[in-house]
Amino acid sequence: MKKRPAVVVTRRLPDVIETRLRELFDTRLNLEDKPLSREELAEAVRTADVLVPTITDEIDSGLIGQAGPSLKLIANFGNGVDNIDVAAAVAKGITVTNTPGVLTEDTADMTMALILAVARRITEGARVIPDGDWAGWSPTWMLGRRITGKRLGIVGMGRIGQALARRARAFGLSIHYHNRRHVPPKIEAELEATYWESLDQMLARMDIVSVNCPHTPATYHLLSARRLKLMKPDAIVVNTARGEIIDEGALTKLIEAGAIAGAGLDVFEEEPAVNPRLVRLAKQGKVVLLPHMGSATHEGRIAMGEKVLVNIRAFIDGHKPPDRVLPSML
Ligand code: 8YV
Repeated sequence: MKKRPAVVVTRRLPDVIETRLRELFDTRLNLEDKPLSREELAEAVRTADVLVPTITDEIDSGLIGQAGPSLKLIANFGNGVDNIDVAAAVAKGITVTNTPGVLTEDTADMTMALILAVARRITEGARVIPDGDWAGWSPTWMLGRRITGKRLGIVGMGRIGQALARRARAFGLSIHYHNRRHVPPKIEAELEATYWESLDQMLARMDIVSVNCPHTPATYHLLSARRLKLMKPDAIVVNTARGEIIDEGALTKLIEAGAIAGAGLDVFEEEPAVNPRLVRLAKQGKVVLLPHMGSATHEGRIAMGEKVLVNIRAFIDGHKPPDRVLPSML
């Protein structure tokens, strides 16, 4: 690889990260922060040594097929890599890295916030005073659901799932989880977490279900219409992982029908488009919708950028980058 590799960054990153990228590499930034078109992305993979994409870039096999011989690293700015066809990249000799670990706490905070927002009607309540609609306190008005003493079922007990479990315990929730495998016994004991091998059985018994697994072919519509129908009518669903893990259309219909009480969603199947029926439910106060803000903190985004820098530096210096993603990990 050349001395100053050509690095193409597809979106604006925090200033300190962009400055460092420019110091170290021959970096092309996207100062307008407008998502690149398909043609612009193709041009980027044809000419770059390193591509730094984000979730808003679809790096599929067609695009990877157009990569020039110099493209050797895709250093994703983000933990989830479902925007990248990792197998196609690796087959073409391109290394893929991500930014794990540094957005765990922020995403777990946002998940807990959504649980509270839905159960305690926070967004609905927060509109009342600014809208001039408050007629005064009443014993039976704006009642939500108690959190303490309820069961939380976590689908995907990785870093974020565990960080959520720690928070949820402080709120008096009991922890249940479904995962490909048990978490280590020490962690299970610390969290007093109950493992459910059967997702179906867990879903049927939970008051709150939180999706915290990655989106892979195996988890696409994991919460299918059939599974969502197993849930209790007073249960709520929260998703800060990826929209594709839940059959969003089925969830919407079940909430409309009163078969599921509500949902808190930070991610959607067709981002940035959101099902208008979900938007209607949000206006009715049945769901809380956030625009993919789970990891959106200044500190988190800088830490993600630092991971990108470390991955690029390590790779260019001839080392294995610390956050390499392999197809076998997905
Ligand atoms: C990011 C995320 O906003 O890292 C992830 O997997 O979902 C988000 O925290 C996004 O992916 C950046 O590419």
